[in-house]
Amino acid sequence: MATIKPFSITTSLLMIFIITTMTMISQTSSKQSNQQSTLVFYLHDVANGPNATVAQIVGINGKVWSYHTWGTFFMVDDPITLTPNQDAVQVGRAQGTISVASLDGSNVIIVLSLVFNNVQYNGSTLEIQGASRQRENYRELSVVSGTGRFRFAKGYVVFETVSYDPTTTRSIIRLTVTMSQN
Ligand SMILES: *[C@@H]1O[C@H](CO)[C@@H](O)[C@H](O)[C@H]1NC(C)=O
Ligand SMILES: *[C@@H]1O[C@H](CO)[C@@H](O)[C@H](O)[C@H]1NC(C)=O
Repeated sequence: MATIKPFSITTSLLMIFIITTMTMISQTSSKQSNQQSTLVFYLHDVANGPNATVAQIVGINGKVWSYHTWGTFFMVDDPITLTPNQDAVQVGRAQGTISVASLDGSNVIIVLSLVFNNVQYNGSTLEIQGASRQRENYRELSVVSGTGRFRFAKGYVVFETVSYDPTTTRSIIRLTVTMSQN
């Protein structure tokens, strides 16, 4: 009879462990499915002139630095708005680096923080990272994380160039973010 007691304690502990684990799994999956959201932003990117928001910062010696030359690095600080209108109110800045990562110049690696300063998301950031096939209009990158309102953000973002004006070198780029937060 003395051997039954320790056996039942072990069984009870095992049961508690199983129930706890199952509860945790069901909570995790219901949170994930509830919190998927889509946000749309517009970046206003100016390549040349006194109000440029993107600049070449370094490249390979003896080569022409450009978006099509492997090894060229750019620094970017684009205004973010909620509509494509050039005069729309800024809700933040898209700050980071763009580097030409493929030898044939087709892909760039983008590392970008969306740094918000509007009332709704003030102080929060979304972190974007990945390869951008810059010769295609539809470019999908990862949303790897976030801070503040966007803690634990995970998902993807589609970059699409809405317009480009060769006279002003201004591009308007739509970012459609699809993400969940755990
Ligand atoms: C640069 O920005 C200033 C201030 O907004 C503006 O007055 C000026 O016209 C802009 N210059 C160009 C070339 O866009
Ligand atoms: C955002 O936060 C900063 C620092 O806390 C504050 O100075 C600023 O007024 C805030 N802006 C808005 C739009 O709430």
